[in-house]
Amino acid sequence: MLLVANWKMNMTRAQINDYLDVLSASPIWPALEEAGIEIALAPSSVYLDHLVRSIREKELPIRVVAQDVSTRTSGAFTGEIGVPNLLDIGVSGVILGHSERRRFFGETDEDVCDKTDLCLRAGLMPIICFGESSADRKSGRAFDVIKTQLQPVADRANLLREDGVYTALFLAYEPIWAIGSGIVAGATDVCEVTAFGFDGFTWPERPKFLYGGSITSDNIVEISACDKLSGFLVGSSWLDPKSLLHSAQKI
Ligand code: G3H
Repeated sequence: MLLVANWKMNMTRAQINDYLDVLSASPIWPALEEAGIEIALAPSSVYLDHLVRSIREKELPIRVVAQDVSTRTSGAFTGEIGVPNLLDIGVSGVILGHSERRRFFGETDEDVCDKTDLCLRAGLMPIICFGESSADRKSGRAFDVIKTQLQPVADRANLLREDGVYTALFLAYEPIWAIGSGIVAGATDVCEVTAFGFDGFTWPERPKFLYGGSITSDNIVEISACDKLSGFLVGSSWLDPKSLLHSAQKI
């Protein structure tokens, strides 16, 4: 089980330090290890290096993942952060295709595939977000939209496999209508989508599915009833380290 706290464009250095102090003081870690629960934190890119160093100093078993990466590897691309930069500072994964990046910054399915390609070749774990809008769901097009998003990823993963690249993927189902809305998808819906994700495509390696969208420590157990899930990608609620710990304790 992988629990990813996506801090989005929140948290200052001081808040990050306080957050880590709370995690560090918790006696939960041996129990999490025994239960196979791993925690990952996704800060704004300016704090990635600080977070990696602080986690090492505190000897916490936490992964650091980025919220995005460039489609370019290096060179004259002002403002971009490449896969080699992330690896260089000890980042181990990256969130790709988040609906906020698709909507506000024009990230396309092709970008997601290109970024996935670069990550997998370099050994960086991609967490690929997908999910339908409220209008898609209401018009009965949810599964068509999901197919449009996941098919190119599956195709690219199959090509990479032919090149001998390890292609284990985390796929995060994040229905847009559930993100930050307080409306969480039902366990049955989540299970239906993950079943479609497993069976509707040919994957070179069995992907792992996460769910994201208005998860809190109060509703996480309910969604965990979908035993096809391998974890959660959470925004607002896990800006509070106590909520993250409480959620981890409950599942
Ligand atoms: O990446 C996280 C998701 O967008 C979910 O955000 O937990 O604030 O709904 P949320």
